[in-house]
Amino acid sequence: MNQLLLLSFLFVFSSSSKAATEYYSLAYRNDPATSVVIGWSGDLGTVHYGLVDQGTNYTAYTNSHGIDRTGGAHGITRHFSRLTGLAPNSIYYFVIYDQSGQTSQRFYFRTLSNDSNDPVSFISGGDTRDGFSLFGIYTENCPSGNCLEKRRDGNKLVAKIRPDFIAFTGDYVMNQITSNTTAEWSTWLNDWQLTITPDGRIFPVAFSRGNHEDIFDVHEMFDIPFDEYYTLNIHNDLIKMYMLNTELDACTDAAQLSWLTNDLQSNTGSPSDPYWKFATYHSPTLAIGKDGTLEVDQMNCWIPLFQQNKVRLVMESDSHTTKWTLPAVRNAAGDDFEIAAQPEDGVVYIGEGQWGAPHRDVYYTGSSAKPYVKDAGTFDNFFFIEVNRDTTLIRCVKFENVNSVLDIQNDELGTGLPSNAVLWNPSNGDNIIITNPTASIAIKENQKLATSVYPTNTKSTFTVEFGQTVSNAAVEIYNSLGKLCQKHNVSNSAKQTIVLDENCSGVSYVYIKFEDGLVESHRIIIGN
Ligand SMILES: [Fe+2]
Repeated sequence: MNQLLLLSFLFVFSSSSKAATEYYSLAYRNDPATSVVIGWSGDLGTVHYGLVDQGTNYTAYTNSHGIDRTGGAHGITRHFSRLTGLAPNSIYYFVIYDQSGQTSQRFYFRTLSNDSNDPVSFISGGDTRDGFSLFGIYTENCPSGNCLEKRRDGNKLVAKIRPDFIAFTGDYVMNQITSNTTAEWSTWLNDWQLTITPDGRIFPVAFSRGNHEDIFDVHEMFDIPFDEYYTLNIHNDLIKMYMLNTELDACTDAAQLSWLTNDLQSNTGSPSDPYWKFATYHSPTLAIGKDGTLEVDQMNCWIPLFQQNKVRLVMESDSHTTKWTLPAVRNAAGDDFEIAAQPEDGVVYIGEGQWGAPHRDVYYTGSSAKPYVKDAGTFDNFFFIEVNRDTTLIRCVKFENVNSVLDIQNDELGTGLPSNAVLWNPSNGDNIIITNPTASIAIKENQKLATSVYPTNTKSTFTVEFGQTVSNAAVEIYNSLGKLCQKHNVSNSAKQTIVLDENCSGVSYVYIKFEDGLVESHRIIIGN
């Protein structure tokens, strides 16, 4: 047998002995309490699933579901089976039985809850791409000597921590002209299998798009919605999560902006307002690492919306450094953030993507350090976030001591970290706690006069009743884009009629701000 024949024989042998399905993933695209997308590569197949563990005996499972869509990109095929109608807060076991008669290993996952009383804990992180190399030598800073090693450490930590889900903020692989993108994605998908626990638990992911992904890559690899921006309602209004697409201009991409605006405003101030609103996206609005870039479009068109609609946490990525901030607001000039005078008016920003990607230095240091940045540093990590109605607890897990970190053996929702996980522990403390905005609003309303605004559908004027005489207050009107369109100061008055000018129209929000920082809001519709 000559060498070529031997190689061919080995290739055919190794191909036929390989699992016929591979590279498994779970993604969210609808209600995480009742649905999930199972993705895989390789053969066509059918998912067999149920609430009882039947091992690899696929015929014993009570449910089966075929392929809803086959996608893929960069030479990689992905099959997607969209499971719906699942029971909330339940463990489902499944196997994939493929067209060649092989059965995958037995996996399981847990659906999220439909009860906002139930806690949830998740991992937020991104930027897993390899460093750029020339002739096998890295030209970017991969301190361990191999960036992919650190990404794998992070993936192994996922399996040990057992989060309820993962919010992944983009930049999976290099995908550049000089790189082998098919091989990079194969390696990425293969490495992702390290997130699966030894007993087969696989974790759903809210995938987002980064700047290293071509348009539709994330849709094609994981079956997120076609527009590559979407929202998830976690535990029936415990958290409304917005997965945004920073490859679209925040201002001029009208579809994403109007969707975001309408969705954020649809419940703000109403009894069905979610307890928390969070946003995740790839490019930071103001990068603390890399070259310190300000994304002007995001600062102008997203940040005012976040602030007006009480988004309390934003998860960013891309610059390959790490930060967490105090509650911050856009400054008057719109060229920076500043510390919020009232914490509940501000947004906490965390990031910026260091799941193994090449290390970069903190850009704003010394005298140019940003006062609203609580801490910043450079090390491989992701964030672990625990949420209940009252508090959001954020900690940052370093990719250190990975092999010794204890396995969490608990599959309940809202489970905490292993006790010996290595936390980022700067001098300001190893965590950030945000208190519930809805609770603080309720306290305000009990303490304060209940203001009223009428009529709520008007063409020219409306009246604000403060409930008692106020010494000083401001009445601010924000348009449907979250921009301030009219403002009046009121003093020594119990009632004020506002004459509308042409700047405000459509669905608008009246914010009544009192001297002591308390705020009440009302939704009105201004006709033409
Ligand atoms: Fe990036």
